[in-house]
Amino acid sequence: MPLLAIVYFSISGTTEKLAHAVARGADRMVEVALCRILGDDIVSGRFQNERLLETIDRAGAVAFGTPTYMGGPAAQFKAFADASSDRWSQQRWANKIAAGFTTGACAAGDQLHTLSYLTILAAQHGMLWCGLDIPGGEDPSGRNRLGSQLGLATHLVDSDLPQSDVSTAEYLGQRLAKLAGRNG
Ligand SMILES: Cc1cc2nc3c(=O)[nH]c(=O)nc-3n(C[C@H](O)[C@H](O)[C@H](O)COP(=O)(O)O)c2cc1C
Repeated sequence: MPLLAIVYFSISGTTEKLAHAVARGADRMVEVALCRILGDDIVSGRFQNERLLETIDRAGAVAFGTPTYMGGPAAQFKAFADASSDRWSQQRWANKIAAGFTTGACAAGDQLHTLSYLTILAAQHGMLWCGLDIPGGEDPSGRNRLGSQLGLATHLVDSDLPQSDVSTAEYLGQRLAKLAGRNG
């Protein structure tokens, strides 16, 4: 069974909620590894969790998740991305399926920039990007509420994630699992 690694950073739990929803969507179709980047993984400014990187080595698909901080990925996620450069030089993650999700306090809080960054990270690794095949504003159940097809962009409404965002994350997990099965 192919492995889906969900690699994410979260402080107050919103990105974590999305990560768990991606995992639920993929459940039973693939093996799932939830890999939370912790502040303690970063020592003297460098990400040093080799086990997490090795989990990605074994994965057929990877979902990258980070809150949008100051218009881009959180520094802790970026530290992880920088540490992946050892894998980059040998293109060890080439041809794995990749997708991204993010959240923010504002509806247009520059989440697209975070997703663009995640796409570039995947491209640097030779990974195959999986966007969202839900046209914004066209889904009867309101999925892809913010209309981003590059990846999942969400935001907090009354301090909580709308159910439609959680459903979109579940859908993304399902889509990734299907693609991982096809790719494996
Ligand atoms: C340092 C910092 C910078 C932030 N920058 C943005 C931003 O640029 N755009 C936005 O919409 N929200 C921004 N936020 C809000 C967070 O993205 C939001 O609180 C998110 O839910 C945090 O994710 P988490 O619960 O997974 O930690 C920022 C929050 C912090 C703490």
